[in-house]
Amino acid sequence: MLMVDIIRKKRDGGTLTKQEIDFFINGYVKGQIPDYQVSALMMAIFYQGMNDEETGDLTLAMLNSGEKLDLSSIAGFKVDKHSTGGVGDKTSLVLTPMVAACGVPVAKMSGRGLGHTGGTIDKLESFPGFSTAITNEQFINNVNTVGISIMGQTKDLAPADKLLYALRDVTATVDNMSLIASSIMSKKLAAGADGIVLDVKSGSGAFMKNDEDAFELAKKMVAIGKHSGVRTMAVISDMDQPLGRAVGNAIEVREAIDTLRGKGPDDLKELCLTLGSYMVSFAKDTSPQEAREMLTDALESGRALDKFADFIAAQGGKHEDVYDTDNLPKASKSVEFTAPVDGYVSSIMSEDIGTASLLLGGGRRSKEDVIDLSVGIYLNKKVGEECRKGECIATLYGNDDAKISEGYERLKKAYGFSDTPVSPSKLIKGIVD
Ligand code: URA
Repeated sequence: MLMVDIIRKKRDGGTLTKQEIDFFINGYVKGQIPDYQVSALMMAIFYQGMNDEETGDLTLAMLNSGEKLDLSSIAGFKVDKHSTGGVGDKTSLVLTPMVAACGVPVAKMSGRGLGHTGGTIDKLESFPGFSTAITNEQFINNVNTVGISIMGQTKDLAPADKLLYALRDVTATVDNMSLIASSIMSKKLAAGADGIVLDVKSGSGAFMKNDEDAFELAKKMVAIGKHSGVRTMAVISDMDQPLGRAVGNAIEVREAIDTLRGKGPDDLKELCLTLGSYMVSFAKDTSPQEAREMLTDALESGRALDKFADFIAAQGGKHEDVYDTDNLPKASKSVEFTAPVDGYVSSIMSEDIGTASLLLGGGRRSKEDVIDLSVGIYLNKKVGEECRKGECIATLYGNDDAKISEGYERLKKAYGFSDTPVSPSKLIKGIVD
């Protein structure tokens, strides 16, 4: 088989066979097929697409390129959650301790941020000493003793996805439905959970810019999960404006802790209750409504916050840093971004907010970049809220004047205003089960 024939076939709109897909994935992982040929194939797939069978075959080829985590020594139904990526999305930080506090073991594999979207691991590293670079044994032991553990994607799990994702990121071939579905599902299936709840984002800050595409992506991923015998469902949620008010790393951790204390933003709390109700109902075989009541109790009693503190301490952080966040990184400067008119905020382009945070130093331009965990943006006003000319609508936190002014310029593009009242988009757009 020749790689050039596979590229040509897809370029001309053909359907790849399982053998052809296995050939290029195995060859790429072994270093026998060069980046430039795989890049050409990714671009051909980007334009020509893949049918469901090809997408399923690609998922399996990437899953089988490495090991599968064996979670059988953890008792009970193990449930995982994955978001397709958004701005201000600190859901995992709130949701996982809520679910664990209901007695459901959470064994979660998370990623780092790339481009304008943030990553759970970077955010968690705001806790001094905290690490997700733990062995599989520590991971399983922490789930058994604390009820929750989060680790980074190791090189042994779906290594083909790791290589391909890094290549797609720099060849403008990330936002293709089949490539996203197979990338996410290969890692999730390799992580060994019995059930997966997906949060598929739709809107300006998401890979899927409209609801139709988000539903289609959700259906593809749910079908792949079910085909592999893993209980899978998806919630489609809004990413037309950032989730919550904080965007960055340590600043998002503070908002997550506020939410665990019952003082966080409503959209974040609602999304966590919705996703959590499906996770708990999968594991406990209850109705989502009963599960929601259990989660609400875990939040209101403070058990979810305590669970979060136990989890941070079990992975090298300090218990007390969860209750007093003064030890988390703090930026040295803040600048107010003010409303240019009287009126209502009509839009906040999530992608621009994510990019503004990146420009402040809170994200990576390339994989090697070191993130400044202390910087970020606080959205004092969100869509639908009234503002007066000159009133502070967002606060930028930074350490470097040049970076702050770059972030400030990007923020100007993010906000839209209207003279008349505006309603924000619906947070939960639907469910695919
Ligand atoms: N997240 C992933 O893990 N993979 C993609 O392709 C896109 C988002």
